[in-house]
Amino acid sequence: MVLIAPSILSANFLDLRAELKATEEAGADLFHVDVMDGSFVPNITIGPFVIQQIKEAARLPLDVHLMIESPDRYIADFVKAGADTLTIHLEADRHLHRSVSYIKELGCKAGVAINPATPVESLQDILPEVDVVVLMSVNPGFGGQSFIWRSIEKLIRLKRMIDQRGLDTLIEVDGGVSPKNAAQVVDAGAGILVMGSAFYKSKDYMETVRSARSG
Ligand code: DX5
Ligand code: ZN
Repeated sequence: MVLIAPSILSANFLDLRAELKATEEAGADLFHVDVMDGSFVPNITIGPFVIQQIKEAARLPLDVHLMIESPDRYIADFVKAGADTLTIHLEADRHLHRSVSYIKELGCKAGVAINPATPVESLQDILPEVDVVVLMSVNPGFGGQSFIWRSIEKLIRLKRMIDQRGLDTLIEVDGGVSPKNAAQVVDAGAGILVMGSAFYKSKDYMETVRSARSG
């Protein structure tokens, strides 16, 4: 069954504890936490200090998505803050292999994310090392953007690469995912769906999880 990872970027931060609880009660699987530095992406969000507090209140694993330049500088800080999966961008890190190895050495699952313009083929040599590939289906930086439909084609190609090599790498699709397109995204190979605005702007979280899962 596909895993649902609501992105707390679209949650109500003034009432975050209640939002986390409601997300858990809705049957979600992970909390997706977006970290932005105002350089790799045009927006700025939160850092390890806030994540550490979220970790204390959350019962679900934290799926931390770093949209920051040279993420290798902060890997240890985010693992210490409580990340269960730590994702870095291929476009932001010069020594991806070293960084992925380091994340795993620290006992955390390692994710690599790629932007819409980055071909999935550029993951060829790092693929066996990573637990999760985060395929961006919007240009990162903001919640609430429209799904880029070309991502479906990339998703199919990536799934084929993974299957042909007998790997069990999960594909996480991030950006513009909603119950409306979830079935197509899952059919194309996604194992994790990130949902920000489609989840937190919905009236009934449980129904949103249910409809995203059933397509
Ligand atoms: C975009 C972030 C996403 C975002 C998803 O830069 O990486 O995780 O929160 O939000 P929606 O689902 O609203 O596109
Ligand atoms: Zn994200």
